[in-house]
Formats: sequence, C-alpha cells, structure tokens
Amino acid sequence: MTAHLIDGKLIAKQVRQHVASYVESLKSSGKRAPGLAVVLVGSDSASQVYVANKRKACDEVGFVSRSYDLPADTDQSTLLALVDELNEDREIDGILVQLPLPAGLHAEEVLERIDPHKDVDGFHPYNIGRLAQRIPALRPCTPKGIMTMIESTKRPVKGLNAVIVGASNIVGRPMGLELLLAGCTVTTCHKFTKDLKAHVGRADLLVVAVGKSNFIPGDWIKPNAIVIDVGINRMADGSLVGDVEFDKAKEHAGWITPVPGGVGPLTVASLIENTLEAYVKFHS
Ligand code: GUN
Repeated sequence: MTAHLIDGKLIAKQVRQHVASYVESLKSSGKRAPGLAVVLVGSDSASQVYVANKRKACDEVGFVSRSYDLPADTDQSTLLALVDELNEDREIDGILVQLPLPAGLHAEEVLERIDPHKDVDGFHPYNIGRLAQRIPALRPCTPKGIMTMIESTKRPVKGLNAVIVGASNIVGRPMGLELLLAGCTVTTCHKFTKDLKAHVGRADLLVVAVGKSNFIPGDWIKPNAIVIDVGINRMADGSLVGDVEFDKAKEHAGWITPVPGGVGPLTVASLIENTLEAYVKFHS
C-alpha cells in the first residue's frame, strides 16, 4: 500500500485564495485592508526565509505588510517599545515576532507584551489558555494548519489515538490541545519518553516535530495512519528532509505529508487566516 499525499501547497493556495477574495470585497466596499507587522531580530538564515515567505503571502492576499528588521544586538526595551507602538497602531491587526530571538532577548516577555487580539501567532498565554479551555480565539499557526490538512483527508478523527512527538511551545503542546478539542486520545512524547517505538506504533494519527532528519523509522508507522511531518531538515547535499523516514513510512501510512510542500505552507496560510480573523473580530 502507498499512502495518499496531503498536498500542503495546494491546500495553502486554496486558503490564500479564499482570504484574497475576502480582502478584495473589503477594498471594493471602501474598507481598509488588514495589516500585519512582521518583526525579525538578527539574521538567522532559516528565519529570514520563513519571514520572507510570510511577507510574500501578505502581499499576495492584499494585506498591508509592514517589515521591521532589527539588528541582532537590539535590546529588550527597544523591542518591547516597538511592540507597544504596534499594539496602538490602528492599521495593524496582527503582530508577529519571529522566533528564535537572539541570545539575551527574552521571548516570553516579548510575546506576552503583544495585545492578545493582535497575537496572530497564537502564542500569548491568553490565547493558549482559551484553546486549553475549549474556547479558542487566535490559534497557533502550525497546529491550526495541521488541523486543516487533517480535515482535507475527510477522515473523522474523534476517538483516534493521536501521538505527538515533540513538546515545544510552538508545535507539540498546542497541537495536543487542538487534537484533544477534536476528540482524539492524545499522547505527547518528548525527550524523557520511554519506548517511543511502542507509542508511535499505536498512533492512528502521528504528528512529528523534533527537527531531526529521519528521526522516526518508516517501519514504526501503524498501517493506515495519518502521518504529519513538521520537520524541515537540510542535508549535506542541500536537500530537505523531514523528521519521518518518508520512503518507508509511505508504504505503511494511509495519508502522509511531504517535505517540503507539506506543513510549511499551511503555517503561513494559517497566519494569513488569523490576521483576517483579528481584523474581522477585533479591529474592523
Ligand atoms: N519560528 C518557528 N516557527 C514560528 C512561528 O510559527 N512563528 C514565529 N513567530 N516564529 C517561529
């Protein structure tokens, strides 16, 4: 058996088209366009690529996109002052501070300073708390995008054993909350987990976000599982691979995401959706 591919590029394009036509209708009725401010501190090369993709998507759907590129030696108070300024800015509906921040800056304080109604990354404790209490508002982009991908398979997820490998604030933890909300029985595996293979082998739905190439051997996958690979790892030859051993995994899985062209485009598409949601619910 060979798994069906979940085409992240195509699904993301459909999401962007939907948002673009909404923005078009706003503009033709004389309303302002939604605005997103993207803040990048320092020159981490992966972050530069991610931020460029986010800014490009903003332009494509007709948003106002503001770029703030700050030097790596920016101090905490300067960054907080920028966030304060953007919180008050009437043209800006969403604020995104790209992570990781350079050493010496405190991400938690910066993220908590963002107005929760402009927190289009969904990282503010207010938004995470709402998700945990089953009253989601702005939802973290990567897990939200993954839920969109899972919905595209039309497979009902209520009651499935969902296993997440990786417990980061950006992906693993909010992913668990999303899947719990969707009615899955959720297990989150992390660096102290014993017998990872046994957990993975029970997963009807597997999400892997550890950032290690081919970390999950393909023959661990439960037959017919939905496999979501969040990892994007650059190999010595320049190619990109995920956290799951794709070629073998696709022989076992029912559905699987490719790398590249899987989860990455959906993270950006969810950011675009969140910015429109912030505009419509809180700022229009
Ligand atoms: N770094 C890696 N992923 C993300 C993301 O989704 N948002 C932000 N702000 N930084 C990230």
